[in-house]
Amino acid sequence: MTTPDRTPPVVGRVRPRRLRATPALRRLTAQTRIHPAGLVLPLFVKEGLSEPAPIGSMPGVVQHSRDSLRRAVAEAARAGLGGVMLFGVPQHRDATGTQATDPHGVLNQAVADAVAEVGDALVVQADLCLDEFTDHGHCGVLTPEGAVDNDATLERYADMALALAGAGAHLVGLSGMMDGQTGVVRDALDAAGHDDVAILAYAAKYASAFYGPFREAVDSQLDGDRRTYQMDPANRREAATEVAIDIAEGADVVMVKPAGSYLDVLADVAAASSVPVAAYQVSGEYAMIEAAAAHGWIDRRRAVMESVLSIRRAGADHVLTYWAVELAGWLQEES
Ligand code: PBG
Repeated sequence: MTTPDRTPPVVGRVRPRRLRATPALRRLTAQTRIHPAGLVLPLFVKEGLSEPAPIGSMPGVVQHSRDSLRRAVAEAARAGLGGVMLFGVPQHRDATGTQATDPHGVLNQAVADAVAEVGDALVVQADLCLDEFTDHGHCGVLTPEGAVDNDATLERYADMALALAGAGAHLVGLSGMMDGQTGVVRDALDAAGHDDVAILAYAAKYASAFYGPFREAVDSQLDGDRRTYQMDPANRREAATEVAIDIAEGADVVMVKPAGSYLDVLADVAAASSVPVAAYQVSGEYAMIEAAAAHGWIDRRRAVMESVLSIRRAGADHVLTYWAVELAGWLQEES
């Protein structure tokens, strides 16, 4: 976090360039650092694949098969990452997202595989939301009129939390933006004896165009948008309300998403939160840097580093990024 100025500027005596003169001076006086332990790798696993399948709009990222997911999780552990965040892509979808709560569903199976592979060397996390599992692509179940039904969705989230906890998830990431979701999931987990399973609440999640490539990554069925449940990009102050509600309902970690275009929100949340703050550098943020770099318009490694460093500087304690493993490798090289 940025430290507020505590002393008045000593005009004329301080020459800020003094500390910029050598790599050693810059290294010593850097006010923000990235560490592999503070990085989380999002991973996609698709039911029925025998080989990983590339995602066109996210060069370098794939939909994993069951086997390749295990290898990717092991690689993440070897890289010293803090965790993985799993997303499942089922073969069959329906109105209520049945596969999300089936113990043999693709995501629950992937969680069990990941835990079998790495135990608790990594925090094995799973996205808790219905959008990958519903045939209409919304994050919840619908009313007969087609609106997203908040309270009926909460019941599905409670069941999904139990399925993920049963599969061994260490943490569930609540990304659906239904009112009351954190409290309902916490109660359900506690009542079932899963009081050790942590909740990451996507507290300030905006209805963003930057999720575009993710829709391809999960074969999204959505026709429309999520503006009736995700936050309006115009709103900064509202993030404080969302965060306060989630912390009051028992969130162990709160998240801001997307990251790069919401650094003001992230700084606000970091200043106000009593629990750790995560930020999600989303698919569109990834795709933009990859696309510019592929054209030779930007220095890829420097741009990736700077983007993640900026998210840390704004106040994120840890960062979800598709570059997590590669970044960890660079950090190793530099240390
Ligand atoms: C919802 C979810 C989304 C992302 C993470 N969880 C999509 C959405 O809200 O539309 C987006 C992540 C990304 O773009 O990288 N399950």
